[in-house]
Amino acid sequence: MISLDLRAAKFIPFLLRVSSWYCVVASAQSISKEIQVSEVHDSASLQQSVTLAQESQVRRPLRIALFGFGTVGSSVARILVESKLKSVELTHVFNRNVARKRVDWTPASVVWSDDADAVLASDVDVIVELAGGLDPAGGWVRRALEAGKSVVTANKKLIAYHGVDLERLAAAKGGHLKYGAAVAGGIPVIPGLEQGLAGDRIERMEGILNGTCNFILSSMEQGAEYANVLAIAQAKGYAETDPTEDVGGFDARSKLAILMRLALRVIVDPEEIVPQPITAVSAVDFSYARDLGCTIRQVARAEQTNGSVAATVGPMLIDLHSPMAWSRGTENMVILTGHYGGDVVFSGHGAGGHPTAVAVVSDLLALAHGSRRVEIPSVPARIGGEFKVPHYIRFTVVDRPGIVSEITGALAREHINIRAIVQKPGYPADALPFVVTVEPCKSSALQRALEGIRTMDCLIEQPLDLQMLE
Ligand SMILES: NC(=O)c1ccc[n+]([C@@H]2O[C@H](COP(=O)([O-])OP(=O)(O)OC[C@H]3O[C@@H](n4cnc5c(N)ncnc54)[C@H](OP(=O)(O)O)[C@@H]3O)[C@@H](O)[C@H]2O)c1
Repeated sequence: MISLDLRAAKFIPFLLRVSSWYCVVASAQSISKEIQVSEVHDSASLQQSVTLAQESQVRRPLRIALFGFGTVGSSVARILVESKLKSVELTHVFNRNVARKRVDWTPASVVWSDDADAVLASDVDVIVELAGGLDPAGGWVRRALEAGKSVVTANKKLIAYHGVDLERLAAAKGGHLKYGAAVAGGIPVIPGLEQGLAGDRIERMEGILNGTCNFILSSMEQGAEYANVLAIAQAKGYAETDPTEDVGGFDARSKLAILMRLALRVIVDPEEIVPQPITAVSAVDFSYARDLGCTIRQVARAEQTNGSVAATVGPMLIDLHSPMAWSRGTENMVILTGHYGGDVVFSGHGAGGHPTAVAVVSDLLALAHGSRRVEIPSVPARIGGEFKVPHYIRFTVVDRPGIVSEITGALAREHINIRAIVQKPGYPADALPFVVTVEPCKSSALQRALEGIRTMDCLIEQPLDLQMLE
């Protein structure tokens, strides 16, 4: 006879066949106790049921070691401690010179260590790598996976450059590698691609992936000067002392490469994505952009058409009515265009300790509850495609007759159609900025035209060429 508490039945995590009966056994220990088996005709099935029930009874929380107790690491610890999660337990914190990192709000049982080898050799189940960079973080991750442990990381550089190899290693050794926090911080765009959008075929994506650049450019939109707003970003902890990774577009291209693998299903070398820095954008560009009904944001975009892959990162003009124009401060936004499902927009806090830590803790919970990633097949690809988009080109010249005809002539020779020529009054004749916008054309054709234009003696700085997102 089998008695089954129907309150348990609704949980249905797995089915066990007992004789000709199917009974539902919940994974929670308390629920498994509610099932009593007094008569069983199939001893093999009984053995299986007993083993699984025992396993569920002895299941202990996942033991978590934090590698790196900085902005994100300390926020992860804070959430783990405050949320009192039953399925995960913070057991170790590793950081160099760890004594200065120690806090009094973690459980006394937590081991604080500056010996990475000792923590890797301990009985922790999951290494949470939050130190950043390729080395030595990559070595710790590799060794943890080699040992069959799982790894959760927010390290976009490591995942962009070595994610495929590390995932293979994890699969071979029976562990898991999760990196939901590596792109767009607290916005669940990676879990969204791995789960909710896995059934679609994403053809195009564009996003604001770097909070520092978005803070700088959205402040410049309000009238701030680049140098001043960079200093504010550094003071607020949004930008590093050396901001090159962010303002140069290198951070965003790593994130774009990760998203391209999950969305477009292509494995690309991030170095093939040539980023354009935001440093060349100035107040005059925001003024001209406004006249054209646009603003400027750092955008990372990629698309796949007829087997050809195009990807780029840089400051671009975006329509004031586009959702991306609404993204201000350190916010991030990703727009994915699916063949079947159309546009899906993710937006929210793309950086910061707590938002990023939420993504890390969510990955930990997914591991603890045994949820498996959907395997998304991807193939190596070269970035050979080009976007055919309108461009904004700002020239700054010492004024003289014939400048416009020389520029339009060079563009015409490459069969590039002009959309508008805009010159605002009030600028001096010896440093006169004016703008030419052109109809959609290939970047290569425009670059050929600009090569000739760059030799004009009237130019006092290089023309600034920005894509316009439509
Ligand atoms: N902050 C964000 O908003 C954000 C958002 C998304 C993703 N991420 C990613 O999350 C990771 C952590 O970022 P974070 O902002 O938390 O950085 P962070 O504040 O600089 O923290 C890094 C921590 O790791 C420690 N560490 C670094 N190298 C180490 C080494 N070789 N040996 C031992 N300890 C080392 C640092 O110790 P010291 O104090 O001695 O330097 C520091 O405590 C990075 O991969 C980052 O890209 C961050």
